[in-house]
Amino acid sequence: MLHDNLTVKNGVLHFAGVSTVDMAKKHGTPLMLIDENGLRNRIREYKNSAKKYLTENSMPLYASKALCFTGVYKICQEEGIGIDTVSGGEIYTALNAGFDLSKAFFHGNAKTDADIEFAIDNGVGYFVTDNMEELEQISVIAGQKSVTQNLIIRLSPGIDPHTHAKISTGKVDSKFGVAIETGQAFEFVKRAILMPNVCVKGFHCHIGSQIFESTPFIDAGVIMLNFIKKVQDELGFKTTILSLGGGYGVRYVESDPVINYSERICELGTALKETCKKLDITLPDIMLEPGRSLVADMGLTLYTVQSVKEITGYKNYVAVNGGMTDNPRYTLYGSPYTVVTANKMDEPFDYPCTVAGRCCESGDLLQENVLLAKPNRNDLIAVLVTGAYNYSMASNYNKVPRPKIVGIKNGEDFTFVRRETYADLIKLDE
Ligand SMILES: Cc1ncc(COP(=O)(O)O)c(C=O)c1O
Repeated sequence: MLHDNLTVKNGVLHFAGVSTVDMAKKHGTPLMLIDENGLRNRIREYKNSAKKYLTENSMPLYASKALCFTGVYKICQEEGIGIDTVSGGEIYTALNAGFDLSKAFFHGNAKTDADIEFAIDNGVGYFVTDNMEELEQISVIAGQKSVTQNLIIRLSPGIDPHTHAKISTGKVDSKFGVAIETGQAFEFVKRAILMPNVCVKGFHCHIGSQIFESTPFIDAGVIMLNFIKKVQDELGFKTTILSLGGGYGVRYVESDPVINYSERICELGTALKETCKKLDITLPDIMLEPGRSLVADMGLTLYTVQSVKEITGYKNYVAVNGGMTDNPRYTLYGSPYTVVTANKMDEPFDYPCTVAGRCCESGDLLQENVLLAKPNRNDLIAVLVTGAYNYSMASNYNKVPRPKIVGIKNGEDFTFVRRETYADLIKLDE
């Protein structure tokens, strides 16, 4: 199947070695399953490759926007990697996990004063500063607290990785970062390195997401290194950290390529080292910020079929007990997913249908025009590779409670996040 953690036994889809039918019976649906062993192995692949092919202190920072709950940060802490956070809420969740925040990088293009204070008070290692107003405020707040805040500066290298426009962020015309091409990045650095109460350690860029080719990452790295050379020569500034963001692609459907992340990091390392040699500069420690490629294929979502509607001359609709509230990605971006009838894996997948969610919204679809083993009410539907940007983008639209997240470790299942209750849904109401 799509990934090694997906197998079929006796006509039933198994994930991380357990039966999806058993999991649905035991925990209810909609249900998200997370393969903890797989996640730890993927983290180690990134961590070891960064050390081996980049520099000794290079490492992955888990982009926790992809899937954020206490248990994930605990795993990152145990595996000894850093994290990329984007809000006070993510930092708070990491704190709850006992995560060592000196290894946290705080991103975002619109940090509030409260965010800045919260991050400084809790010892966040590095800010990733996006604009001058923010940087000035970090300097003021750090001064009030008598600390020197380490930070890196987000730049836009002007790379268009030809991915979906909404998830492509490294172009010059972007809400993120300071453009190199326009000369603004250089002027920014000139001011930033003289600012009190902050210490600039280096630079960051993130060119986009779900990128399968190697070249955009290498091109971005080369542009960043040329900029590093310029600020070294012209401003005497020595860069110690270069964060190249996330973005490696993940196989969602059979037609997507299989990506070997270790090979990608090796290719990147070779290109960066060659460039440094040409430019006569030292390779800074490289941070990588994988989100999707750490967690996407470590997750899967199970739903129960509620109805099968056949519209004569048109489509067949299979409606399930979840949808855009737990996975808004098809509604937002038309993202492709592989969908299967998890309890009928040995039957022919020849029933053309559109899998619809339960919300009062015609766009609430999980996938259109797929082929399933013909489902009936109470059959089990699995949407594969849902670990990234599903639960973290979930909502309570229509007052639908968020699903439970169950981890699978060494064949044992346990609760990572309990199912939201109706009582949870009104707990903020006065
Ligand atoms: C700054 C930054 N770093 C890392 C990531 C993670 O990207 P991905 O999940 O594609 O690896 C994102 C995603 O939006 C991002 O904005």
